[in-house]
Amino acid sequence: MSLCFSSNGFSFQTFKTQLPITQIQHKSTLFTSALNYPIKLITKETRASSSSSFRSKTPQQVNVLVVGSTGYIGKFVIKELVSRGFKVIAVAREKSGITGKSNKEETLEQFKGANVCFSDVTNIDSLQTSLESYGSKIDVVVSCLASRSGGVKDSWKIDYEATRNSLVAGRNHGASHFVLLSAICVQKPLLEFQRAKLKFEAELMKEAVVDTALTYSIVRPTAFFKSLAGQVDLVKDGKPYVMFGDGKLCACKPISEQDLASFITDCVLSEDKINQVLPIGGPGKALTPLEQGEMLFRLVGKEPKFLKVPIGIMDFAIGVLDFVVKIFPSVEDAAEFGKIGRYYAAESMLVLDHETGEYNAEKTPSYGKDTLEDFFRRVLREGMEGQELGKQQFFK
Ligand SMILES: NC(=O)c1ccc[n+]([C@@H]2O[C@H](COP(=O)([O-])OP(=O)(O)OC[C@H]3O[C@@H](n4cnc5c(N)ncnc54)[C@H](OP(=O)(O)O)[C@@H]3O)[C@@H](O)[C@H]2O)c1
Repeated sequence: MSLCFSSNGFSFQTFKTQLPITQIQHKSTLFTSALNYPIKLITKETRASSSSSFRSKTPQQVNVLVVGSTGYIGKFVIKELVSRGFKVIAVAREKSGITGKSNKEETLEQFKGANVCFSDVTNIDSLQTSLESYGSKIDVVVSCLASRSGGVKDSWKIDYEATRNSLVAGRNHGASHFVLLSAICVQKPLLEFQRAKLKFEAELMKEAVVDTALTYSIVRPTAFFKSLAGQVDLVKDGKPYVMFGDGKLCACKPISEQDLASFITDCVLSEDKINQVLPIGGPGKALTPLEQGEMLFRLVGKEPKFLKVPIGIMDFAIGVLDFVVKIFPSVEDAAEFGKIGRYYAAESMLVLDHETGEYNAEKTPSYGKDTLEDFFRRVLREGMEGQELGKQQFFK
């Protein structure tokens, strides 16, 4: 049994007393298989009651379901939605966060002002039951789900299947808009998690063509601050800044958690973000690793010292791992992590201009006010709390 909690206390409501009749009628036939269900599940009657009229309402009247609520970005999205007055339903695991370090009480404490549904997004029946227990219609689903490891199977399980579950369950509870936190790197998909995200993006877009009652906003951010903070302590301790090639192989317009959460929240009601793929970066110019390193040395007041690693070293390691994985398939994740590291060492997190084949900083929109320089200052002063990378050391 899945339970929903609200900031005002505990609430549990049974399915039959809460759901509109159209949804009850379909429940028994909809979810027979966890993986092989049709994505189009909404009846005409249900669709009529789930029109996009929520856009004319005030935030206080709009129910927003957030999956991936306990992640780095998800937490800020919850805060932002609550502060703008939306009715928020945060879906969370009973043990959430990196290595499952947060328990239910901590999650409830953290998400004050929101309703919390402890449920399993990887299980459509569990998610469905949780939404039934919530008892109110959903207007918008926001997904900040992501594989915490970036491993092959986990990426498909979370970035594709669980995200799809949240679309299906949300639709069956009236949602007519889906906001997806994706990633700018899916423009050039060489990694499994990118392929998994792209598959879901394609299905979401297709569904919105077939069913015009559904709209979407796909947010594709550039690098997060946490992904660039890994060397702050090393530089502070007098170690060299490590970079690949000449330090100019890749660039990004980093965006803070707060600014991205604000942009994602804008997508809930903004008419101008409907049915769009939205690449987004932070303020200021694009920065290469060389420039990020120089900035760090300036902030710590030390002479710049760089360790330049040839990118070919990674190619060699990946070649070896690709060979080994053919004999020992169990090391597929190790091989994938190598590819993830290689990808982020060489590919820019900027809009890819398909005409020129080049990454283009000017074509990468900027949003927000938080700068990487201020973020580095804060980490130098206060440490990395809240910026932990978990298992995704290579790219998060
Ligand atoms: N890092 C970057 O620079 C960057 C740049 C652009 C885009 N992105 C994209 O941004 C997205 C979100 O990133 P993030 O850093 O906020 O992610 P994150 O901190 O790793 O959070 C992942 C969320 O998904 C949930 N989740 C993962 N596995 C789950 C499972 N088996 N069952 C239930 N829930 C599960 C987590 O729940 P728990 O707390 O319970 O584990 C958490 O709420 C990703 O798609 C990423 O690719 C990242």
